[in-house]
Amino acid sequence: MLEHLFTETVQKTMGEEGYGAWRSISAPDAVSLSFGFPYPDSFPNEELLTAARDLFAEEGDVALQYTGGENAQSLAGIVAEQAARRGVDCDPEQVVLTNGATHAIDVVCRTFLEPDDGVFVEAPTFMGALRLFEGYGADVTGLPMDADGLDVSAMADELAARRDEGRPLPKLCYTIPTFHNPRGVTLPLDRRERLLELAAEYDFVVLEDDAYGELRYDGDPLPPLKALDETGRVVRVGTYSKTIAPGVRTGWVVADGDVAEQIDRMNAGGTNRFTQGVVARYCRDGHYDRTVAAVREAYERRRDVMLDRLESYMPPEAEWSDPDGGFFVWVTLPEGVDTSAMLTRAGEEGVVYLPGEHFYADGRGERSLRLSFSHASPEEIDDGIAALARAAEAAIESR
Ligand SMILES: Cc1ncc(COP(=O)(O)O)c(C=O)c1O
Repeated sequence: MLEHLFTETVQKTMGEEGYGAWRSISAPDAVSLSFGFPYPDSFPNEELLTAARDLFAEEGDVALQYTGGENAQSLAGIVAEQAARRGVDCDPEQVVLTNGATHAIDVVCRTFLEPDDGVFVEAPTFMGALRLFEGYGADVTGLPMDADGLDVSAMADELAARRDEGRPLPKLCYTIPTFHNPRGVTLPLDRRERLLELAAEYDFVVLEDDAYGELRYDGDPLPPLKALDETGRVVRVGTYSKTIAPGVRTGWVVADGDVAEQIDRMNAGGTNRFTQGVVARYCRDGHYDRTVAAVREAYERRRDVMLDRLESYMPPEAEWSDPDGGFFVWVTLPEGVDTSAMLTRAGEEGVVYLPGEHFYADGRGERSLRLSFSHASPEEIDDGIAALARAAEAAIESR
């Protein structure tokens, strides 16, 4: 009835899947390797309960006021301290608290994007971010990736071609440089530096999504893009969803002062002060560091089991990524296999995954799929990969 009053973007995209529709991919009795969810036992229920009790004991009703109390107000400083440990030098005024990283991306979009503005993304990329960019009516271009992440040379070529031909340049480049979702890869230092040079040369914002940055299992840490940023073009988003729990819906934006100020203005009115207070107490009591260390070990074990079983069970034509951290392995099957069509057979064999097409703005990714090792137990991962191998063999044979 109100259709004609919807924005043009809503009218154009009305038939499309809603945000989070991919979460409903499941099959009875099948192991789900599709959820990018933390495993249930990772949640620090007791510690959060203690933090909430201590918060009420200390602050009483102030903890539930619009402004929150001292604990909630201290969280920006805690985020800044944690960022400093990763090499990002910022003060609390540069931290804008949000209800998770998705919300953080949303407020960055609200600050920078108008309909038809160009946005560069990695192809593939996090489907939640794609939905947001589409919701703002942005003109999204997927850039190629390889085993080292974003192909920055291809990006340089695309930018130069656009400039030479007088085509519009992007306003924003969204990237997940560390433990990419869905490809699992990490961008090396030289490419990070080159990306920032391009941003300065062509005048665009680099939106760095570091949702998984704390979850490294191998290799030496690399500086986040924001740590390398000398021109203030990097806007960084992060979240406690993967290190505490998604349900706390607490994340942040880190940006240079004047940018942070405008993002904060756009973010008026609605973050969860009570949860921010609980999270701040939780971190100050040392639970954050202890829990992150424990979940890192548990995820490393799950990743190792997944990679080992892929090696043991998968047909020789299959390829997959070798992540040093994060939640995901990206599997590519030979030409002619359609992973969306294969999902029915996979469900019958006992596994579900996310077909590759969900991660592209233009429906590519037909022969790829994303596996998550974060939610299933090591035993389930073993069963799931055996089932995936059976489904993949059948799909390869029937090409
Ligand atoms: C790259 C990336 N960014 C953001 C998010 C969402 O984070 P949040 O739960 O804080 O909104 C996810 C999780 O699914 C993700 O993979």
